[in-house]
Amino acid sequence: MSYLLLYSTQDGQTKKIIMRIAENLRRADIDCDLRDLSTVNQINLAPYQKVMVGASIRYGHFNAALRKFVIRHQKQLNQMPTAFFGVNLTARKPEKRTPETNAYIRKFLMKSPWQPNLCDVFAGALLYPRYRWLDRIMIQFIMRMTGGETDTTKEIEYTDWKQVDRFSEVFLQMECDKTPQK
Ligand SMILES: Cc1cc2nc3c(=O)[nH]c(=O)nc-3n(C[C@H](O)[C@H](O)[C@H](O)COP(=O)(O)O)c2cc1C
Repeated sequence: MSYLLLYSTQDGQTKKIIMRIAENLRRADIDCDLRDLSTVNQINLAPYQKVMVGASIRYGHFNAALRKFVIRHQKQLNQMPTAFFGVNLTARKPEKRTPETNAYIRKFLMKSPWQPNLCDVFAGALLYPRYRWLDRIMIQFIMRMTGGETDTTKEIEYTDWKQVDRFSEVFLQMECDKTPQK
């Protein structure tokens, strides 16, 4: 049994999350191939039983590599069991931590030609000291506007690891045979 896990990350939090998921799956004897979406051009999904994609938000958008991947692989993706998760700081607020209440995920699902079987959203990390000056100022401004942390000496990880583990478990339990949709 082999699963493909793809991620798009800027500061490493999405990679950290997908590595935790891979660890959970490997404990259940699943082979996992981890790939960075920015290095994937054309990939044959057929050898894999399931595919998961995780991507983070930066200034309101997922990385363009996600859109490219989805457009290129939509047919195969829609014919197999798949999962998607997004990572952002809006999801640090529990009421914005579901695919239905997180604006980025809602927008993605509305526009995407690929409809994953399973979807979730995780809170990311706020890593002020690691950001470039302008990013630090911008994020601090957004945090001030939304009632978040404004101390730029701080690094805070908001990710709920129990939520990530539950997501891994549901992905693991997903049926492997999916009737083609398209
Ligand atoms: C420059 C920058 C812009 C960001 N823009 C947004 C945003 O528009 N909305 C949001 O909810 N989170 C935003 N975030 C938070 C990131 O999504 C969060 O830090 C996440 O953990 C990043 O994941 P990654 O390390 O995998 O890229 C931003 C972070 C940075 C550094």
